[in-house]
Amino acid sequence: MTENATATDAFIETLPKCELHLHIEGTLEPELKFALAERNRLRLPHGTVEEMRAAYRFDDLTSFLASYYEGMQVLRTAADFYDLTRAYLEKAAGQGVRYAEIFFDPQAHTSRGVPFDVVIGGIRRAQLEAERTLGLPTGLIMCFLRDFQAEYAMATLLESLPYRQWIVGVGLDSDERGHPPAKFAQVFDRARREGYLITAHCDVDQQDSVEHIRQCVEDIRVDRIDHGSNVLESPELVAEVVRRGLGLTCCPISNRWVSDGTKAELIKQLLDLGVKVTVNSDDPAYFGGYVAENLVAMREAGFSPDELITLQRNAIDISWAPPEVKRDFRGRLDALVGSPAG
Ligand code: ADE
Ligand code: ZN
Repeated sequence: MTENATATDAFIETLPKCELHLHIEGTLEPELKFALAERNRLRLPHGTVEEMRAAYRFDDLTSFLASYYEGMQVLRTAADFYDLTRAYLEKAAGQGVRYAEIFFDPQAHTSRGVPFDVVIGGIRRAQLEAERTLGLPTGLIMCFLRDFQAEYAMATLLESLPYRQWIVGVGLDSDERGHPPAKFAQVFDRARREGYLITAHCDVDQQDSVEHIRQCVEDIRVDRIDHGSNVLESPELVAEVVRRGLGLTCCPISNRWVSDGTKAELIKQLLDLGVKVTVNSDDPAYFGGYVAENLVAMREAGFSPDELITLQRNAIDISWAPPEVKRDFRGRLDALVGSPAG
């Protein structure tokens, strides 16, 4: 493959994909929202799927999160979480995703009376089924809501321990303003001692993005960072991220909605600097793009086929997948590079 070859849609279709930044609640498409509302006898504020989609107009993280939390009110039973997860995994498999790590937000459900075991039970059943029937292995990451108190995060961590074998790591998401990673230092410390790997959102262009990245890298000592492209504002932090092989899970289409533009040029700079940067979908039902559409956005921004392959290699390298899944994924990438079309 040559550096300046153009990636076609067909190439992107055949590329084995690794998704590392995907909120399962952010995959709730309006059609399923209506079906679950009917099943649970709930009224929605919008009359039709089209009206609902038209109402998705966000210009920052806060306005997106308001829709996101409102939308998930229809998720009540284990069957709802199963249907949600199953629908996403079918979509992902159809796009050539060969490994996915899925975030879930237990506190967004326990805080409105849906028990933890209902949430994780439904998700887990769909994960097991997808591995069996779609050949799609997945990992599950439990996120703490940073705009809730640290004590609630700690209680959620303790509540998760009976399900320790079902959860590969913990994360931190929701509204970043005024809620630095350091607020959760003790929670992350305990999570690590319980054997969880650690990631945290450092969303794009937030009030204290660089300081939050610094806390993640130097104080919390995370295993990777979600978003995090503002690290480029600090050459010292970039050097440390490269030295530690820390991955960044960027989400170009999401960036368009919570800031301005896909930040493709920053993703390219990170790639060129040797940062293990990856491209992911975040909340595809709200932002209108799953992983393939995000890769098309990179292609349109000038990423070559080799660079798209490097993004997938980075993703499997920084993933928390078992060794046999990593081996299989890398074998598929190698086969693609070796093929005439590749
Ligand atoms: N929760 C779901 N999506 C999120 C995002 N992009 N940033 C922070 N919290 C989130
Ligand atoms: Zn996210």
